Amino acid sequence: MFTTQIDQLLAGLAQEQISNLQELEAFRVKYLGKKGIVAALYAELKNLDGEAKRLAGAQINDLKNQVNAIVAQAAQDHESRSNVKSLESMDLGLPPAFKPHGCQHPLTLVTNEVIDIFARLGFTVSTGPEIVDEWTNFTALNFPQNHPARDMQDTFFVDNMPGYLLRTHTSGVQVQELLKGVLPVRTISPGMVFRRDSDATHSPFFHQVEGLYVDQGVSFADLKQVLYHFVNAFFGKGTDFRLRPSYFPFTEPSAEMDIAWVRNGKQGWMEIMGCGLVDPAVLSNCGVDPELYTGFAFGIGVERLAMLRYGIADIRVFYENDIRFLNQFAAL
Ligand code: PHE
Repeated sequence: MFTTQIDQLLAGLAQEQISNLQELEAFRVKYLGKKGIVAALYAELKNLDGEAKRLAGAQINDLKNQVNAIVAQAAQDHESRSNVKSLESMDLGLPPAFKPHGCQHPLTLVTNEVIDIFARLGFTVSTGPEIVDEWTNFTALNFPQNHPARDMQDTFFVDNMPGYLLRTHTSGVQVQELLKGVLPVRTISPGMVFRRDSDATHSPFFHQVEGLYVDQGVSFADLKQVLYHFVNAFFGKGTDFRLRPSYFPFTEPSAEMDIAWVRNGKQGWMEIMGCGLVDPAVLSNCGVDPELYTGFAFGIGVERLAMLRYGIADIRVFYENDIRFLNQFAAL
């Protein structure tokens, strides 16, 4: 009696309909679930003895194995069906999805390299605000009251903040750092600066790295040696450079540094920085005793370094965000 019931169940398996995942799960639960058919049959085994029990046991095992096989097969069918579907909806003729690699802007690359070189000489990095008061940008740096740089033509003043302007150079950070009153100071300050200027070699905003070293006994020889090291480290050993006497209100003596370049058979000099010994008046304005302390300062033009390094003739390409230009730096 019991065995014919199992025979019928075995025969009935072929009639089971499984055409989707829900039906597959329902089928599995119906036969193999805790309260399913197979469990119920096993429970009845205890009422049988001897040969009958053995026979019925083997039949139930058979039923369980067949159910398991059907479940496995149906699951596999389902998976290959959905793979075919996703292949059908995919256009294999389309070009692959383009995921561009980001890269650093050449000015960032150059700034970071400058920071690295001076960090190895013991310079810390300090930054200042882009909007500064006139005293920090000009007065403390010994600019006379009527200096042309203060003029509306050269400087961007801030309309609703009287006495404030977009910094025209990073030299104001010298003032900020000296006013902290902790000596010696040995720091570099990268940042953006602003001037009313615009042509192939001038942009209304550009970048500088300011350098300042104030201690007892700092001389022009120290400045020269540090700059000599910088040129060798950045442009390579043996790069030709010159220091030309110059004038800045906040350094005395002052100089400008030019780097020799050769391109397309032409050669020339490119100015990359202003520098000099910090004027004693600046030290006094910032509460540092010029009888005890001396120092040097420099302001490097980051765009100039990048133009020399990468052979760029027009400063405006740095700000156009032309992906064809920027992409060239992806591997650097
Ligand atoms: N601040 C000057 C400029 O912008 C550069 C400079 C910095 C010169 C430090 C001397 C010392 O042109």
